[in-house]
Amino acid sequence: MDRIIVRGGNPITGSVQVRGAKNSTLPLMAATLLAEDTCVLHNVPCLHDVFAMDKILSEMGMAIDFTGRSMTLGPNSVTSHEAPYELVRKMRASFFVLGPLLGRFGQARVSLPGGCAIGTRPVDIHLKGLESLGVNIRIDDGYVVAEGRPVGADIALDFPSVGATENLMMAASRAKGVTRLTNVAREPEIADLASFLNSLGAQISGAGTDLITILGVDELGGTEHTVIPDRIEAGTFLIAGIATGGEVTVLNATAEHLPNFVEKLREMGAEVEVHGSKIRAAATNGLKGVDVSTQPYPGFPTDLQAQIMALACVAEGATIIKENVFENRFMQVAELTRMGANIEVDGNAAVVRGVPKLSGAPVMASDLRASAALIIAGLTASDGETSISRIYHIDRGYERIEERLASLGGDIRREP
Ligand code: UD1
Repeated sequence: MDRIIVRGGNPITGSVQVRGAKNSTLPLMAATLLAEDTCVLHNVPCLHDVFAMDKILSEMGMAIDFTGRSMTLGPNSVTSHEAPYELVRKMRASFFVLGPLLGRFGQARVSLPGGCAIGTRPVDIHLKGLESLGVNIRIDDGYVVAEGRPVGADIALDFPSVGATENLMMAASRAKGVTRLTNVAREPEIADLASFLNSLGAQISGAGTDLITILGVDELGGTEHTVIPDRIEAGTFLIAGIATGGEVTVLNATAEHLPNFVEKLREMGAEVEVHGSKIRAAATNGLKGVDVSTQPYPGFPTDLQAQIMALACVAEGATIIKENVFENRFMQVAELTRMGANIEVDGNAAVVRGVPKLSGAPVMASDLRASAALIIAGLTASDGETSISRIYHIDRGYERIEERLASLGGDIRREP
């Protein structure tokens, strides 16, 4: 199994192009199930999660061509309404096919995704919402068997779940009547999905706010759409620059999608400048600890919590990190500690006391963002070598990260 080998000490410096957002691409691909005509997505990242969604849709009969960064999806040939356990268990985002299958065919059989390293991650909000749209749902042998054409309804989500907001928005776009969703997620990926659906002919307003109104339509056509930049990838590269005393400029990024994050970096003492679609960050006068509390958008993203923890390990003073979105998302702590970090965890809070330096060590990646944190920590470690195993996690969400960090001056490589 491949490993990533990092020798720290080099400042990560230079410009790097941000790829399209994984968390937009996956629901956008699923949303093409709602369309009657060909859809083309541009700025699609080459990621294992994208290949996994490609496989699920292809098995349903979707015709997919993925060339360069453009993906053409032909939904006319879709005949199956089933997403099997073998595929869904590998990627929770597979569950996004449920809403669009119901919107187009009025029936779906989708495996329950099960838990994952960062928590049990139930789908009760998705299912409760779909039932409110009049869909009959039963659980059969670990599968959600759903039947019935969605009918518009007023639904207040128990929690602003990103996936549930997306599934309900997709199911409601071809429902009979009007759906009003409140307490919804406001992540930029939700607005990207709504703009894609609207370009297919849907009538969705309010995406990106707390209330989304969807006027169901009978049919959706085809379209071309460019995926928004990956804000989490942008944030990861910026942190790598700051943590190593370098200076990184991310290109093709959207700073407005990272409001709380940029504020936190500045509070820690980093200089962050935004010029159009470029964000430049550096820390010339040292870094100090801050309080970070993850929240649904526009709060601090849980998907950057592990990376900012790696940064906090080498900042002066204490950083208190509260994880409010997932129940078990401190998987990186034990590994960072093996590299010399000083971190205490109490429930959903971690206190990180900065140390002068980290040291390289063999470590194991446990999930996608934890892997990114270990790479950042490895890049800052001024002695020894960090060898990261189980890096298939990182390939799920970052495209050839080691090559791109190497092009920014990092001593980092992949080894079989
Ligand atoms: C999406 C993102 C993921 C990100 C997360 C939170 C994608 C593909 N993934 O995941 O990268 O970390 O948003 O920003 O877009 N919950 C329930 N019941 C439900 C649904 C969710 O209790 O029916 C809980 C989850 O267990 C979790 C919290 O709500 O604790 C947030 O989950 P959610 O917003 O749904 O995240 P995902 O859509 O799975």
